[in-house]
Amino acid sequence: MALGLTTAGESHGPALTAIVTGLPAGLRLEKDAIDADLRRRQQGYGRSPRQKLESDEVEVLSGLRYAVTLGTPLTLVVRNRDHANWTWGMSPWRPEGEPAGKGTKPVTLPRPGHADLAGILKYAHEDVRNALERASARHTAVHVAAGAVAKALLRELGIDVAGRPVEVGGETSEEGMRAATDAARNDRDTLGGIVEVVATGAPPGLGSYAEKGDRLDARLALALMGIQAVKGVEIGDGFALARRRGTEAHDEIYPGLERRTNHAGGIEGGVSNGEPILVRAAMKPLPTLMRPLDSVDLATGEPAKALVERSDVQAVEALAVVAEAAIAFELARAALDKLGGDAMVDVLAARDAYLARIGDTWHPRAS
Ligand SMILES: Cc1cc2nc3c(=O)[nH]c(=O)nc-3n(C[C@H](O)[C@H](O)[C@H](O)COP(=O)(O)O)c2cc1C
Repeated sequence: MALGLTTAGESHGPALTAIVTGLPAGLRLEKDAIDADLRRRQQGYGRSPRQKLESDEVEVLSGLRYAVTLGTPLTLVVRNRDHANWTWGMSPWRPEGEPAGKGTKPVTLPRPGHADLAGILKYAHEDVRNALERASARHTAVHVAAGAVAKALLRELGIDVAGRPVEVGGETSEEGMRAATDAARNDRDTLGGIVEVVATGAPPGLGSYAEKGDRLDARLALALMGIQAVKGVEIGDGFALARRRGTEAHDEIYPGLERRTNHAGGIEGGVSNGEPILVRAAMKPLPTLMRPLDSVDLATGEPAKALVERSDVQAVEALAVVAEAAIAFELARAALDKLGGDAMVDVLAARDAYLARIGDTWHPRAS
């Protein structure tokens, strides 16, 4: 069975949930490792005070016994601590008594760049909150939890995945990124940036050229474009390749099937080629602004300024963690497509047999 992921939950609802299906039995998970990734997602220069309020922690409701997967659906839950302030405003049932707490007044001021306007038109909502609660990136928390599970599986296969920010507001040094963030905060503005995810240790042969949906590059691009605010994806040298000649663009092959360059980012023909897998994602500036842009009040049709709500100045470090999780999950899916089995022993045996078959020709770099 293919690895699957379904998530549910609103930003200020009681909890976020992920159900991971198709995980082999016998995979050891560590709560601390999952919680560490949840914390990494919450950190980063330029995040809003909400991150101090939320101290995310995973709960497991099914699929795990004594820290080992059972081969049954794994249910991961991350509670929204902020829900305590929204019990009236985000009540699943019609609440009784006087409106109290946050979310009680309808939002009618759509933010340019957010899902607010398109969301209410699509779903026939009157309160923009009914769209923004799910469109918000808050539920990336459970995607990170699922990604941490995927990373545990990949680690068993010798594959390591790491994400990092490489650019914030056009700045590439840590000092420059912080200064740009401070300047944007002072101007009550927001920033975007670029993150990079590198996967090392992946064998050749993940993905396929047989159909476009099987291509590993297409699958990784979908995983990244599926994250809020991501507007561009590069594999390897990506857009820069378009400006080079072929003799300078491709990675020549030497005896031992060695490569000395990796312009392709570890994927040729939609298939991993054994080199490190390199992907980048570009994030637009966050749409919630303390200096709001022009909008229209949907209650009156009159010009108005857009909704102002507590928000990050930039979330590029958080995106690096979310992108790492998304790539890890997709690589785990591709690895199980190739090596899949009901139990980890079967997966590892398939991996060993496959590496033995190609071992005469391919030798992983740095081994
Ligand atoms: C980790 C992360 C944190 C984000 N935090 C915010 C935020 O605090 N304020 C905001 O307006 N948008 C934030 N966003 C971006 C919005 O969720 C996103 O722009 C919005 O859902 C519209 O989707 P689109 O940008 O893909 O069109 C964040 C995105 C990510 C990935």
